[in-house]
Amino acid sequence: MKKKTKIILTVLVAAAVLAVVYRAVNTAPPADLGKNEQMEAIIASAGCMECHSADPKLPFYANFPIAGNLVKEDIRLGYRSFDMEPMLTAIRTGEAVSEVDFSKVEKVILDGTMPMAKYYLVHWGAAINNTEKQMILDWAKEHRATFYPNKLACTEFANEPIRPIEDSVAVDMRKVILGNLLFHDVRLSVDNTVSCATCHGLNTGGVDNKQFSEGVRGQFGGVNAPTVFNAHYNFVQFWDGRAATLADQAAGPPLNPVEMACESFDEICEKLKADKQFNEAFTAVYPDGITQDNITDAIQEFERTLLTPNSRFDKYLKGDKTAMTEEEIAGYDLFKLYNCATCHVGENMGGQSYELMGIKADYFADRGTELTIEDNGRYKETKADRDKHRFKVPGLRNIALTAPYFHDGTMKTMDEAVIAMAKYEVGVDLTNEEVKKIVAFLNTLTGEYKGKLLTNDSMK
Ligand code: HEC
Ligand code: HEC
Ligand code: HEC
Repeated sequence: MKKKTKIILTVLVAAAVLAVVYRAVNTAPPADLGKNEQMEAIIASAGCMECHSADPKLPFYANFPIAGNLVKEDIRLGYRSFDMEPMLTAIRTGEAVSEVDFSKVEKVILDGTMPMAKYYLVHWGAAINNTEKQMILDWAKEHRATFYPNKLACTEFANEPIRPIEDSVAVDMRKVILGNLLFHDVRLSVDNTVSCATCHGLNTGGVDNKQFSEGVRGQFGGVNAPTVFNAHYNFVQFWDGRAATLADQAAGPPLNPVEMACESFDEICEKLKADKQFNEAFTAVYPDGITQDNITDAIQEFERTLLTPNSRFDKYLKGDKTAMTEEEIAGYDLFKLYNCATCHVGENMGGQSYELMGIKADYFADRGTELTIEDNGRYKETKADRDKHRFKVPGLRNIALTAPYFHDGTMKTMDEAVIAMAKYEVGVDLTNEEVKKIVAFLNTLTGEYKGKLLTNDSMK
């Protein structure tokens, strides 16, 4: 054996021995620590932040030629797919961790995929034992129960990543009535031809079923219209999250040059004030009269009533085992198995985080058409490189009624969307059988509006 080979072998064996020894002495944090403190200790000892933060402390071997490049690549990919900084901060301050974040962590621990096994040899701290695994799972469960209580599900499903939609939320009915009128009022557009409902018909799944929406004077936008149903649950509005609330959102379309194209809200207020009857009804609810803030507040209040509870899936979660067929339940199991339920979480099955479109494969290269401004996603707002092609995850409620899919409206069917999601977000090629089951499951997500099963008139 050459001397050099011998040295390398010795070093490797020594590292392996050290790793084994470390593993033996690496005990879990004390059982009587609080769950957050345990979690913080495990994150530190497992080296999670070395791959999942913006500014990782590079380990010393990151400067070695080959090993170093491998480590750097893992760090790049790790941070690209998951930023753990917000989670760690929330753990330290005792605040709520995003549902998406702890659902993802829960999943990688259940699957045993993190920390990466190959990292164990080069970084001997990066391993967690079974006690620590259980601590993480217990932490996630307790966190879910504390910050995202699931009051509607039966006990068996209380820890599911998806929760049933509420029957209603508390609203001021007088504002709702005004908001409903405004939502359907074409006077919010420059030439009195387009209302919110033109693109978000409540009889068409809350969307227009077009690739891109058509606004005033036959103009088209560059992004697909998401549904207004259950938008109340989204953590921010729009694909790029540029509106913090539904009221902020509602201030957008009236002045958007391709949508409703008004010069200013003054123009709209003048039109509405000239309507004596409307003006009186409005002022009875908002004493300071018709203003931009009051208009968007009323629309927001109305949109909070656009909930679709009692889908078959929700009935199942509430304990009615007959509400879903075996095939549909198998579809839900696959939905969880393939990580879908780590991004599509909560009541609305999405709308809680921004995610990179194309984590596992280059979606935009495969699409083959030129990149548009809209393809930038969240980057449009932040100009941060990491946000390029990152989109607010759409909710999947009533998905059977809201084709076409994706921000660019390129997926015409649920089958296509599911196959693409598996490929670009999860890194798996689904079999036809699996696609069929997942789509069967997605079909159970259609809920009720005003006590009746939601339907789409343009699909009849
Ligand atoms: C050596 C670097 C490294 C370490 C250490 C590491 N990860 Fe990762 N992590 C990655 C990489 C790389 C990916 C992306 C995997 C991929 O895209 O296939 C990833 C992905 C993830 C994801 C995203 C979910 C997913 O399925 O892609 C989560 C959550 C995660 N890691 C959690 C953790 C936790 C928790 C720890 C600590 C216990 C940890 N990671 C330690 C490199 C690391
Ligand atoms: C011309 C068609 C059109 C009109 C008119 C229109 N919208 Fe939209 N709406 C869209 C499109 C397209 C998007 C996505 C835009 C984006 O994300 O940049 C959208 C996004 C939204 C969202 C965000 C949903 C989500 O999941 O992010 C809400 C809520 C919404 N619209 C409500 C309204 C309201 C309220 C009005 C009337 C004041 C209105 N829209 C008028 C097409 C339209
Ligand atoms: C890493 C997060 C992530 C995972 C995992 C994920 N999705 Fe998505 N999903 C997204 C994002 C982001 C979009 C929007 C993509 C776009 O518009 O370009 C999306 C869009 C969708 C849509 C289209 C919704 C619409 O209204 O346009 C469907 C359907 C969907 N996902 C289903 C699934 C299924 C099924 C799985 C599992 C196989 C899955 N997703 C896994 C993030 C994720």
